[in-house]
Amino acid sequence: MRTATARAHPNIALVKYWGKADEELILPVAGSMSMTLDAFATTTTVTLDPEADEDSFVLNGSPATGTALARTTRFLDHVRELAGSRERAHVDSMNEAPTAAGLASSASGFAALALAASRAFGLALDERALSRLARRGSGSACRSVVDRYAVWHAGTDDETSYAEQIDAPDLRLVIVTVDGAQKAVSSREGMRRTAATSPFYDAWITSTARTLEEMVRACAAGDPTRIGEITESHALRMHAVIASSEPPVRYLAPASVAVFDTAAALRAQGVFAHTTADAGPNVCVLTTPADAERVAEAVSAHGSVRIVGPGPGAHLVD
Ligand code: DP6
Repeated sequence: MRTATARAHPNIALVKYWGKADEELILPVAGSMSMTLDAFATTTTVTLDPEADEDSFVLNGSPATGTALARTTRFLDHVRELAGSRERAHVDSMNEAPTAAGLASSASGFAALALAASRAFGLALDERALSRLARRGSGSACRSVVDRYAVWHAGTDDETSYAEQIDAPDLRLVIVTVDGAQKAVSSREGMRRTAATSPFYDAWITSTARTLEEMVRACAAGDPTRIGEITESHALRMHAVIASSEPPVRYLAPASVAVFDTAAALRAQGVFAHTTADAGPNVCVLTTPADAERVAEAVSAHGSVRIVGPGPGAHLVD
């Protein structure tokens, strides 16, 4: 029986990915940059089953059906194609983050699945090939393959669109869970709507490419303040372009906005605090190891908080 187990963590983008140039290959309209977290792991075991006619998928102890199963099967089809195999597989996945609560569990999920499935099917992919494979499951998953900080090069085709590690100063994220509820519009659907209807979409694409270049320079210079400033403005630009869609989409809740304000007030007192948020109401405040406790205490009025730092990329476990 061929089996493999892998573990991966979510990542939080400091330069956001929002919009696809190719839906089938999941090529983004612009590159992005993220921190892989040291918390909320997904651990996935893939076991090949020569007897089975269908793939099966158990998530957190319950058999998955519908879209979740279909997405897993479609992903395994990519792995089968690479491996030249027709065998079906059983996937068993445990996710330590609340699913769809805005902690990008699809990123840790597909990064862990890419590694476990590629090994179970007998493939030994290098980091770039693994990142490209994970991208086919969920765009942001290509960044969770990488340790600590990652840049996802947008690329122009399957070969050139992958994430790789980038050096950056040691920072922390204070994750504020303001609402654990399932988000109303998935990122996939939200991206489509923004692309199809926002009058600001072209400006978002061209400015994101420039922002990423600036972020890469700030990382190379080891300039945490500039990294923080870019992080917050880029997050707000993403939420602005999303809000300009029709029908409109708004992911931030009043408590999320309150965290942005609290971080601004902390900055006025000399504390390192810059806010970002993905496609949901939860927010993350980027800070330094020295200021993390102070930030966590200040924002705890708006939700439950957890301090996380840079963590490992996808890896095999026994
Ligand atoms: C707001 O990677 O979940 O978190 O490629 O359609 O699976 P798909 O989308 P996904 O989108 C993540 C969007 C984001 C920003 C980011 O992580 O860069």
